[in-house]
Amino acid sequence: AAAEKGGYPNFMAKEINEQPHAVADTLLGRTDETGRLVLDELRISEDDLRAVDKIVIIACGTAAYAGMVAKYAIEHWCRIPCEVELAHEFRYRDPVVNERTLVVAISQSGETMDTLMAVKHARELGAKVVAVCNTHGSTIPRESDAVLYTHAGPEIAVASTKAFLAQITACYILGLYLAQLRGGTYADEAQAVMKDLHEVPAKIQQVLDGLDRVREIARFMADTRSVLFLGRHVGYPVALEGALKLKELAYIHAEGFAAGELKHGPIALIEPGQPVFVIVPSPSSEHGLHGKVVSNIQEIRARGARTLVIAEDGDEDVVPFADVVIRVPQTPALLAPLVTTVPLQVFACELATAKGLDVDQPRNLAKSVTVE
Ligand code: G6P
Repeated sequence: AAAEKGGYPNFMAKEINEQPHAVADTLLGRTDETGRLVLDELRISEDDLRAVDKIVIIACGTAAYAGMVAKYAIEHWCRIPCEVELAHEFRYRDPVVNERTLVVAISQSGETMDTLMAVKHARELGAKVVAVCNTHGSTIPRESDAVLYTHAGPEIAVASTKAFLAQITACYILGLYLAQLRGGTYADEAQAVMKDLHEVPAKIQQVLDGLDRVREIARFMADTRSVLFLGRHVGYPVALEGALKLKELAYIHAEGFAAGELKHGPIALIEPGQPVFVIVPSPSSEHGLHGKVVSNIQEIRARGARTLVIAEDGDEDVVPFADVVIRVPQTPALLAPLVTTVPLQVFACELATAKGLDVDQPRNLAKSVTVE
């Protein structure tokens, strides 16, 4: 068993460290020599894909957060309305789905019963379903019209890490492919974004190589009772995923918020010493949200929060309001989750280890939940 863990103390640490490969392998073989995306495996006709007027992403747990990230990118690139819904909610609310709906079912295991039932329901309503899945021969791809595999390799630890980054990558490939197929503003950009994506694995490695301070802080925080996470735009689902990892692995009460929502309620939670992670968007991103998130850090700091700030290299604006700055390399705005998630995974894993918990098999959880 020690050999299987490749020298790491547990599968989770190993899988976190495999993320550069999970992303690189998922990108592999999706383009031709000219750089155009080719998804031969996507066995849905080009006519059907051109006719799609709505995308609905269904998933559970971490996979649903990957879907939330993907929504931002898919709508931006494809100009197709895209919804994300928890698979167990989707089926029971009379969703507006028809022949022109493309349903994307994200599942690492391919066996999650909630997601499987939602897939069946969507197909009954006439939708075309693409599975984004990490497990060959599993049930959800079999019950779908097509499958786009993530190539993260087997994920053993119950809580998902490398599959999450691979799911985002695969959904982005799908979004770029649709943009390319349907023409329009972003068709020409698909190749440029693919080029940016190919640079991401090295950036993840850079993050992994610089996390000693995060580990030290995590060990120091082993007695913490509650941690909050704030993010905006694609940083919002990253905040949700950071909180989920801490709940799953360390049994600590944790909540993620959209930073813009802070003033509408959650700021009441801030009291002296409350740790808050903030995922800061790039100062150079087109959406211009950097300044707004920096103001949020200032607001919570003024109320005594202990601010743990994930910010790009060179972003000096955060420094006066950060108790701790965790650096990530400069990355295009939509691709940032592929790097900003990593310190949060390592934080949760290290803190749980410091508490003496079994990070690979947290209490009450199962790797794939095959009951509804
Ligand atoms: C379980 C696991 C989670 C996972 C979720 C969805 O609850 O504990 O880590 O995110 O299922 O799993 P799937 O295999 O469908 O991605």
